[in-house]
Amino acid sequence: MAEKAKAPNGKLGVMIVGLGAVSTTFITGVLMTRKGLAKPVGSMTQYDKIRVGRGADKKYLKYKDIVPLADLNDIEFAAWDVYPANAYESAINAEVLKEKDIEPVKEELVKIVPMKAAFDKNYAKRLDGDNVKDAKTRWEMVEQIREDIRKFKEETGVERVVVLWAASTEVYVPVNEKVHYKLEDLEKAMKDNDTENIAPSMCYAYAALKEGAPFIMGAPNTTVDIPAMWELAEQTKLPIAGKDFKTGQTLVKSGFAPIIGTRCLGLNGWFSTNILGNRDGLVLDEPANFRTKEVSKLSTLESILVPEDQPDLYGHGNDEDTQYYHKVRINYYPPRNDNKEGWDNIDIFGWMNYPMQIKINFLCRDSILAAPLCLDLVLLSDLAARAGRYGTQRFLSFFLKSPQHDYTQDEVPVNHLFQQYVMLKNAIREMGGYEADEEID
Ligand SMILES: NC(=O)c1ccc[n+]([C@@H]2O[C@H](COP(=O)([O-])OP(=O)(O)OC[C@H]3O[C@@H](n4cnc5c(N)ncnc54)[C@H](O)[C@@H]3O)[C@@H](O)[C@H]2O)c1
Repeated sequence: MAEKAKAPNGKLGVMIVGLGAVSTTFITGVLMTRKGLAKPVGSMTQYDKIRVGRGADKKYLKYKDIVPLADLNDIEFAAWDVYPANAYESAINAEVLKEKDIEPVKEELVKIVPMKAAFDKNYAKRLDGDNVKDAKTRWEMVEQIREDIRKFKEETGVERVVVLWAASTEVYVPVNEKVHYKLEDLEKAMKDNDTENIAPSMCYAYAALKEGAPFIMGAPNTTVDIPAMWELAEQTKLPIAGKDFKTGQTLVKSGFAPIIGTRCLGLNGWFSTNILGNRDGLVLDEPANFRTKEVSKLSTLESILVPEDQPDLYGHGNDEDTQYYHKVRINYYPPRNDNKEGWDNIDIFGWMNYPMQIKINFLCRDSILAAPLCLDLVLLSDLAARAGRYGTQRFLSFFLKSPQHDYTQDEVPVNHLFQQYVMLKNAIREMGGYEADEEID
């Protein structure tokens, strides 16, 4: 049977790469919740109840009553950013939360001053801050980030650290077998300053794992989704997770596609578009950065509605004549700021191929949806480390748009929201010393 998680024994350091809209909404919400001034709505670790045991022994318990989760009061925050604004200034600038929801924790937020970023402008051309490390090589970047982590541990006395990437999406880095497959090749490329194949995010991930911290990738970057990083996670016995927070449109997609699939309806096409005006939208307005996001968003549907499994239903769209047409668009539109509006047009067909349409119009708030995911991913990665779990944590797929999987072994990602939920519940059960007793089918 899987290992039961050990109880924490001290504070948890949460070090966040990027101190923008998502991070400041996350941090402010945690601090406000600690003061009893806000509710962490949307967080599975704070609200969800799952069944443990069967028959007469069955109980429905919150996660904290099944596993030894870190307490919100035991979290210490730190961050890196390209811009020098502290967490208070950045939260105000982001315009996600109202001042009344920020002011009560101003004193704590002001103290979160970002450390200099490991940054390369070629990876996000639209960013122009100067709070940046002076590193001659990628290897130097790694060493400086490691030093930051050690210093933070020393200064705060935290027992454990988790590193979370909530920084901008980098330009698309295709997996290169010569660099990204073996750890020794990856290290060599860092030392040789191969800036084309080594993104700054890889330096954060490498540094985190070397310093004993689990690493979570909240953007669609390739970073920890390469065999060399899996090797490092195995060597250091640490959990990694990624990629890309599953928030608005993709959450809807992974929850709605099963309706079409389970009722054996056909799909001719799914067109998703949205408008978004925050800094994330600005960065994604650059085609090379959008490409990273597009790859991530497109992958969701294909593993839920599989053309090869049901050629009559999903195999005769107009996408290279092999399957339904799937298109994803993101449009930068400043007036909406963080309040994204998404439209989905779904062309389905039923009995005797008669066509029908479904329209979904989601007026969401990007960072409000992402913040609880940050909390859950951080707490559950820390828990997984204490349960001796390491490598890609597939049970965290529930929170991710483009879940990591071993593509070298033809493993397929699980995108189906309800299958992901079963994986999550089973892992919580196991880490609480119960049997993982639900089938994924
Ligand atoms: N909000 C959502 O619904 C959602 C969903 C999925 C993924 N994401 C991803 O989360 C990330 C954060 O989103 P956001 O809205 O907070 O964006 P944001 O632009 O408000 O914040 C990102 C911050 O990261 C900083 N940054 C960029 N590169 C950095 C580096 N190398 N080191 C340190 N800091 C760096 C930027 O200066 C910026 O302040 C984005 O990659 C976004 O694609 C968000």
